Amino acid sequence: MSNSVNHQKVLLVGDGAVGSSYAFAMMQQGLAEEFVIVDVLQDRIEGDALDLEDAQAFTAPKNVYAGTYADAKDADLVVITAGAPQKPGETRLDLVNKNLKILSSIVKPIVDAGFDGIFLVAANPVDILTYATRKFSGFPKEKVIGSGTSLDSARLMVALGKRFNVDPRSVHAYMMGEHGDSEFAAYDEATIGGYPLKAYAAKEGVTDEELADIEDKVRNKAYSIINRKGATFYGIATCLMRISKAILRDENAILPICASLDGEYGLDDIIIGTPAIVNGQGLKEVVEVPLTGAEKEAMAKSAAALKKITADGLA
Ligand code: NAI
Ligand code: 2OP
Repeated sequence: MSNSVNHQKVLLVGDGAVGSSYAFAMMQQGLAEEFVIVDVLQDRIEGDALDLEDAQAFTAPKNVYAGTYADAKDADLVVITAGAPQKPGETRLDLVNKNLKILSSIVKPIVDAGFDGIFLVAANPVDILTYATRKFSGFPKEKVIGSGTSLDSARLMVALGKRFNVDPRSVHAYMMGEHGDSEFAAYDEATIGGYPLKAYAAKEGVTDEELADIEDKVRNKAYSIINRKGATFYGIATCLMRISKAILRDENAILPICASLDGEYGLDDIIIGTPAIVNGQGLKEVVEVPLTGAEKEAMAKSAAALKKITADGLA
């Protein structure tokens, strides 16, 4: 790995809407001294590298270039955003077959190049593709994580922040489970400035029905965006930048990602959305939220939806 004090290397696979927005976010934050872009579209990655390097006049010095999987050899982090996005009317799970095929053509050459860093997966369905990345790579659980419900949790923080007229960064609330239609809001453990969310809502006259409506809108927000502009990318790009920062800066940040479970929530052999401690090793530790009765059921239901696909579809 190139993990010396002042030099970190990130390799991005998939330079579409999500990947290029992520590259831009990384550049704006001055993260990673070496940033390599790989895609099947050679002109696109060369053009993007040239375009992104112009930002260096105003951000930290960087080496941004179009590369190949061989460049993964000494990378600290590989971020995978290659894959088909949903068309209007499609669910994330509908993408599984085509995106597994794409993923299998990516992970092997990266491992063969001698990559020994951390995989961060965002392509959908992200829980399944992260699980598959672990299988295809043979890497330990610490080194393979996915963006999980980071975007959904961000959406929840923003929605609650708007409703209560507080800065979303003062809201601690997680969407958990599948990054998809079976996800749920873990409201019983959520807080606003340390104040239990449900008590805060009662104080502000916000009913349980209204909270359920917020959860539903968050669950369906991707569809609301895709139906209008065809894709979502700025939100996830910022989440990926945030997770990358936790890794590259060895932060021990607690973030809602998707990670391998070993008995947490009574689940094994699955990758699913949960808060976890993220640092330079990747996954340091899953933070098992003490879910209440209905939340436990929602987690089990979401896990069952994912297990059905990994049992049926992953050789
Ligand atoms: P896009 O179509 O704009 O970009 C996909 C890129 O992948 C293209 O540049 C394409 O050439 C590249 N690609 C395809 N096959 C490849 C291969 N074998 N090797 C290397 N590159 C390859 O799609 P977009 O909008 O960027 O979405 C990418 C993925 O991210 C989708 O699966 C989408 O569902 C997912 N996504 C995930 C989110 C999350 O919260 N986890 C949020 C938003 C999107
Ligand atoms: C999102 O939630 C489509 O997974 C993507 O925006």
